[in-house]
Amino acid sequence: MITPYYKSVNRDFTLLHGDCFELLREFDFKFNCIFADPPYFLSNGGKSIQSGEIVSVNKGDWDTGKSPQEIMDFNREWLGLCREKLRDNGTIWISGTYHNIFSVANCLTELGYKILNVVTWVKTNPPPNFSCRYFTYSTEFIIWARKCASKPHYFNYELMRKINGNKQMKDVWFLPAIAPWEKAHGKHPTQKPLALLSRIVLASTQPGDWILDPFCGSSTTGIAASLLGRRFLGIDREMDFLEISKGRREDLNRQDSVSQFRSKIKDIQEMESMSSVVCEDPLTDYGDLPF
Ligand SMILES: C[S@@+](CC[C@H](N)C(=O)[O-])C[C@H]1O[C@@H](n2cnc3c(N)ncnc32)[C@H](O)[C@@H]1O
Repeated sequence: MITPYYKSVNRDFTLLHGDCFELLREFDFKFNCIFADPPYFLSNGGKSIQSGEIVSVNKGDWDTGKSPQEIMDFNREWLGLCREKLRDNGTIWISGTYHNIFSVANCLTELGYKILNVVTWVKTNPPPNFSCRYFTYSTEFIIWARKCASKPHYFNYELMRKINGNKQMKDVWFLPAIAPWEKAHGKHPTQKPLALLSRIVLASTQPGDWILDPFCGSSTTGIAASLLGRRFLGIDREMDFLEISKGRREDLNRQDSVSQFRSKIKDIQEMESMSSVVCEDPLTDYGDLPF
């Protein structure tokens, strides 16, 4: 029997502590959408620059380098488990860099997913390159795929177009890296910006939808979900990161924090300003988690 590490009072945000490879096998539930930011296996003793200081690139044991074959096996297994957890019209987003994203794309195709887009996230404020022997790394890739080639998926086309000044939203997104106010409950070494996850949630889900993040870290996905009236299950094997997640979610029990956070996200502000033009579809009841 699964005992959640944390559940919000209104049951819209649940955290599980443990290995997602084990936990995903232990319950039945279908999600509308999955966002995953899996390990990139980049912790190989290299150096980088952060706030003007030379720092190690090592993130933790969970990110220790693996061979190409091991990375392929890892990605194939969790992507297979996630496919079983998606509704037939559901979609999955996976973020990565060139180190792991080609392996992810190959596994997706092998497993029968259909790739819809590869979004390039251009960081408007990337850290400088320490070695001065390469171009500065300033992008990450986010693959968007649907479970089945034949089942139509949900895309909030109109909202994306309105957010983009009434022009079709492109697959290149210019968004800054994480801001200091997003780290109020402690630092996760690879925390994603809330603006990025808000766009993903708005583009591919509707109010009331269930979103899974099997490598949730500080639960940026869950915070975006809660701010936008979606429901969330996050899994992480590190207790410290779940504590950060819990603190971030508990902030949202105060309505003034919700308003404050929403006011800092440009896409949400745009959505609010044009709510008379673009309506999100009404909430559908997809039931509750079995724990
Ligand atoms: C790249 S980070 C995710 C960061 C997250 N997107 C955020 O905004 O905070 C990957 C996370 O996966 C977790 N992790 C790695 N292997 C795992 C596994 N087998 N099961 C569950 N969590 C795992 C790590 O502890 C780490 O927090």
